[in-house]
Amino acid sequence: MHDLLAPSPDRAGTGSVKWDRYRGRDILPFWVADMDFTSAPSILEALQRRVDHGVFGYTQPPPETVGATREYLHGRHGLEAPAEWMVWLPGLVPALNLASRAFGHEGAGVITATPVYPPFLTAPQNARVPLQGIPLVRTGNRWTFDWATLEALDDGGLFLLCNPHNPVGACFRQDELVALRDLARAKGWVVCTDEIHCDLILEEEVEHVPFLSLTEPGRDRVLALYSPSKTYNLPGLACAYALLPGEEERLAFRREAAGLITEVNCFGYTGCTAAYREGESWRQELLAVLRANRDRVYEVLGRYPDWLTLHPMEATYLAWMDARRLPMDSPARFFEDHGVGLSDGEDFGAPGWLRLNFGCPPDLLEEGLGRMERALAGLRPTATTAPR
Ligand SMILES: Cc1ncc(COP(=O)(O)O)c(C=O)c1O
Repeated sequence: MHDLLAPSPDRAGTGSVKWDRYRGRDILPFWVADMDFTSAPSILEALQRRVDHGVFGYTQPPPETVGATREYLHGRHGLEAPAEWMVWLPGLVPALNLASRAFGHEGAGVITATPVYPPFLTAPQNARVPLQGIPLVRTGNRWTFDWATLEALDDGGLFLLCNPHNPVGACFRQDELVALRDLARAKGWVVCTDEIHCDLILEEEVEHVPFLSLTEPGRDRVLALYSPSKTYNLPGLACAYALLPGEEERLAFRREAAGLITEVNCFGYTGCTAAYREGESWRQELLAVLRANRDRVYEVLGRYPDWLTLHPMEATYLAWMDARRLPMDSPARFFEDHGVGLSDGEDFGAPGWLRLNFGCPPDLLEEGLGRMERALAGLRPTATTAPR
């Protein structure tokens, strides 16, 4: 048993992006997507052994990292990924930008389904290519693609897919992904699929379908992005990789990276190897904590249906809520004023929505939810209880 329920270590003074935003103010951070859990002991031990070695020179992907990654992709996701498909990177955000530069200059430009993780919106802008943000639609309890609008887009360009989707928490189903693949074939789009959240599926009956598993080398133009960083809480180790089955796409992608993208640091590879080889029991315990946290978020915030609407989410540790009925211009500012730092939906292309990161020990979440309740209760005399 790992102690994921223990209070978080104090992250002050560690240069934490998440905590430093509110340094010196009584605001608890539930925004940027890292978690407040200590890493798995097996990862800490592997990193310690690497420190003890004492030499930290330029490092290429060690064979054991490549082997562990191939075993992980095959064992967990049924993917056969030869080492030559892999391009190692210090993050997936660089990969979104490289893909936009390499493939976004034709026809439709860069297409993505919104709202979405902000770098999907800024990467095309950085690459000076047009962005086509096509809003996701809700059918029943699920978010899906707006097929009619997608079908009307031009041929050529790049589709940036986020699956599981940040922030709406959807896991796209096989039939949706097959339809997207077929549309990409018909349109000649390259598909870049970011699957960084694929090992954080909270709905037990839902399975992640890797987009690559539906494609054929030589027929589909595709790149798939992965990293152990979200699942094992290692984003500060800066280790990610792209899988590019097509030689032409691989060369185009590498050309954009040449001279600009640094190697992954030696600790990144060590963390990745240990996560994939020895992290599974920790991941299972993490999922149990995240499921309980998610249920608690829905239970507490579900008491305020006049102000907040939470849609069912299938994956990630990010709850996405519609706060547009709150009687103020900036719901994010309102909750900050009550001591809770959430992500502002505006950054994702959805003003008035909020994202709450519940990847933290339950005591911290409870304190944050309590503050949110007090803020909401102050808006009217009594709270009603609504089912999830
Ligand atoms: C969908 C998605 N892609 C990429 C990232 C960040 O990737 P990296 O830290 O490897 O640049 C995040 C982080 O929240 C994310 O949610």
